[in-house]
Amino acid sequence: MSAAGRLLLALALAPGALGAAAAARAESAADPGARAFQKCFACHSVNPAERGLPGPNLYHIVGRPAAALDDYEYSPAMIAAGRSGKLVWTEATLDRFLANPQTFLPGTAMNFFGLRNAEERKAVIAYLARKRP
Ligand code: HEC
Repeated sequence: MSAAGRLLLALALAPGALGAAAAARAESAADPGARAFQKCFACHSVNPAERGLPGPNLYHIVGRPAAALDDYEYSPAMIAAGRSGKLVWTEATLDRFLANPQTFLPGTAMNFFGLRNAEERKAVIAYLARKRP
């Protein structure tokens, strides 16, 4: 299913998701990081309570080892990277992953062409770094 299809399905299945989408849109008007996150939004949430999207929940992702969530079925490639202790999501590793997910981690299930613009990557990583307790 396409990302857009999944988003529509997620909206249809999750009560309150439309409210969350509207809130995210309002936030994105002011913040370039939130605006860039609109490209991730079909698959990811930064709301810790919102699970079951196509991609893992990204609340408190900065500083977390790869593939750390118990309730998400990661690809073997992501699990291997995380379990080996090699891959922790720092600002530097996120920058490289987001520039080109498939090059950084061959075999990843994240079907996303990447953010080519370094400023946009910086903004979205700063946005993710704020989504923490
Ligand atoms: C089309 C859906 C899709 C889009 C769009 C997408 N992702 Fe992902 N993302 C995934 C999937 C699926 C995974 C799990 C990958 C795996 O297991 O190999 C993932 C994994 C990740 C991870 C690793 C999480 C962990 O727990 O180890 C990060 C970080 C991430 N994505 C960030 C982003 C950001 C930031 C964006 C937007 C710039 C984005 N993704 C766009 C689907 C997507």
